[in-house]
Amino acid sequence: MNLRSKKSNVLLCVTGGIAAYKAPHIVRGFVQLGWDVRVILTESAEAFVSPMVLATLSKNRVWVEKDFLSVEGGSQIPHISLAEWADVVIVAPCSADTASRLAIGGGGRLMDSAVLATKAPVVVFPAMNVNMLYHPATRENLDRLVALGYTVVDPDSGDLACGYEGQGRLPDREVILEEAKRALSVKDMDGLSVVVTAGPTREFMDPVRFISNPSSGKMGYALARTAWYRGADVELITGPVNLTPPHGVKVSPVISAQEMLDSAVSAMGGCDIMVKAAAVGDYRFSSVSEKKIKRKGLDVMEVSLINNPDIAATLGSVKRPDQTLVGFAAETDNLTLNATEKLKSKGLDMIVANDLTEEGSGFGSNTNRVIMLGVEGVLREMAGDKEIVADGIWDQVLELRGKS
Ligand code: PMT
Repeated sequence: MNLRSKKSNVLLCVTGGIAAYKAPHIVRGFVQLGWDVRVILTESAEAFVSPMVLATLSKNRVWVEKDFLSVEGGSQIPHISLAEWADVVIVAPCSADTASRLAIGGGGRLMDSAVLATKAPVVVFPAMNVNMLYHPATRENLDRLVALGYTVVDPDSGDLACGYEGQGRLPDREVILEEAKRALSVKDMDGLSVVVTAGPTREFMDPVRFISNPSSGKMGYALARTAWYRGADVELITGPVNLTPPHGVKVSPVISAQEMLDSAVSAMGGCDIMVKAAAVGDYRFSSVSEKKIKRKGLDVMEVSLINNPDIAATLGSVKRPDQTLVGFAAETDNLTLNATEKLKSKGLDMIVANDLTEEGSGFGSNTNRVIMLGVEGVLREMAGDKEIVADGIWDQVLELRGKS
């Protein structure tokens, strides 16, 4: 089981840079995830953010530089006990000075010693003036951190507090939380290239009217996020939804079934696993008006629809033996029978059947109840939050691939 799905211990190391003022917001984010947060402030970080605020928000004592060699904790050596306690260490913001200290394995401060002593994954978020960031010394130090096995997350670009414009901003809190979750995940999908389709398609009749379905994209986005947490290289082909694009994932937006087909076909050649969680419109209008169609006082309006291409079946016909193709079946009746029929007719390796008539299953909900079926029958059943179900789907896909 992945640590990220339970309460985790995060050690947040805040160093001296203007972005340290965002530390309380980051602490709140981890607390809202239900994680336990402890904070170390370097001496210069104390100039930017108050230990009192961080202690109040984390509901834990905050460790500052004067605690480093203090005997106040009795036999407890702070940098060792914090290093052992942490499931993940986040250095945010990481100043140029701290990057240089970590790069040489320095242990002269509480924070550096805790990082040296920990066996937990370390994620570093450099944030500084763009010239400092691009100085060859900083580049070398950051490369060295990567070589040491730390994850170094590139800063964002934009207006910098120092008045410059360029790269050097601390990424949004969501990115920090996502990277922490990824750091806690077992990387059992490392080296795999995964494509997920998600959301609905839209088939337009004129510039202002279309037919679609209620897919929110939540299931497909959860699949994309969890595959990224587990180390996969992920492309998400998504119909129009109201969800934030997942961090770390290549997002390819599409509108119609034809566009989704084009994107999926071009991604198929280079991927190991394709999962079709999108709810693709089966039909489109036989003709699309360039101008808004007038009402003309008609009581009944007749339109004609034509078949859309079946994307899953198209991919099933070109799939290589080393590739795994997974479909979904959204059913209102005869769940297993109908899903098995789709599995076979579309040339899929596995199908995930969800019963649309069940509460908390299928379209729009945060949860799903699914039965995974292979050519030999039921593989596993799962219910719960869509992220938990997504993890279960990946477990099953990896098991299938292990067998093939
Ligand atoms: O997005 P959410 O709100 O989280 O909801 C999730 C979901 C219900 C949309 C998802 O769990 C799901 O079931 N997706 C598939 C819905 C669907 O279109 O099922 P289907 O039984 O009509 O199609 C079977 C499979 O063929 C699907 O993998 C579908 O992507 C694929 N298909 C269908 C039609 C078509 N023209 N091309 C296709 O590739």
